Amino acid sequence: MSLDTAQQDPELPIPAGVFAEKVTSVEHYTDRLFKFRITRPPTFRFRSGEFVMIGLPNATKPVFRAYSIASPSWDEELEFYSIKVPGGPLTEHLQKVAVGDTVVMRKKPTGTLVNDALLPGKRLWMFSTGTGIAPFASLIRDPDTYEKFEEVILTHTCRDVEELKYGQELVAAVKDDPLVGECAQALRLYNSTTRAEFPFRGRITDLMVSGKLFEDLGVPPISPETDRGMICGSMAMLRDTKSALEGFGLVEGSNNRPDTFVVERAFVD
Ligand code: A2P
Repeated sequence: MSLDTAQQDPELPIPAGVFAEKVTSVEHYTDRLFKFRITRPPTFRFRSGEFVMIGLPNATKPVFRAYSIASPSWDEELEFYSIKVPGGPLTEHLQKVAVGDTVVMRKKPTGTLVNDALLPGKRLWMFSTGTGIAPFASLIRDPDTYEKFEEVILTHTCRDVEELKYGQELVAAVKDDPLVGECAQALRLYNSTTRAEFPFRGRITDLMVSGKLFEDLGVPPISPETDRGMICGSMAMLRDTKSALEGFGLVEGSNNRPDTFVVERAFVD
């Protein structure tokens, strides 16, 4: 598949002050989910876990949307993991990108799902639903994460089993990676589904509050002494997971005021 001619119109100028990068690979997971990688501008720096605004050069004023960078800060390409929203102003077109197409990207990355926004601790929990796994795909490939935390637990909950594949493949690849593989032995993936048969069932919030999550993993319940949290998902998921973490005594932090958990919305929905 490739962009239609309107999207590739060479007459449309690249907006001022943005990077114009080439797509290097595309992989579709389900009819709702895909990943793509683009070239990385040599001057572009970011912290693992941050997001950036991306768009397509398909209009004089392209639509930009916030996307977490799913690749780590040391990678020579940039990876993104996206939902396909039917009729979505950006994703309707973005889902059709092919290798060699151009993606535009604003120059300034930002975000709070960064190691710097958390106080040191023993165990880092990364709670994600759907495409909210993207910033964690970056952080679990960054050796800094394992320098700061002894144990890293990534939870990923989706409606269906096929939606878990991106994270499962990624964790397997990270454990085999020559750069981070050894320290990533500290990484564990916990999957659950809410609408399909799977060994672990249920919303992550329910699994936390009931204590089943801790039993399944064989770890003590979350405590502000030892545990740190990062949350990324829909607005409702953020609200409920934040309230569950507050129930365990954790306190929300930010870049300016690091504390025991941080939150970021999975933007495109
Ligand atoms: P559910 O199937 O019970 O709605 P979505 O694709 O809608 O973003 O959902 C991704 C996952 O997040 C689904 O498994 C969904 O469960 C779950 N989810 C939705 N809302 C919440 C919430 N408020 N708290 C925790 N998990 C949620």
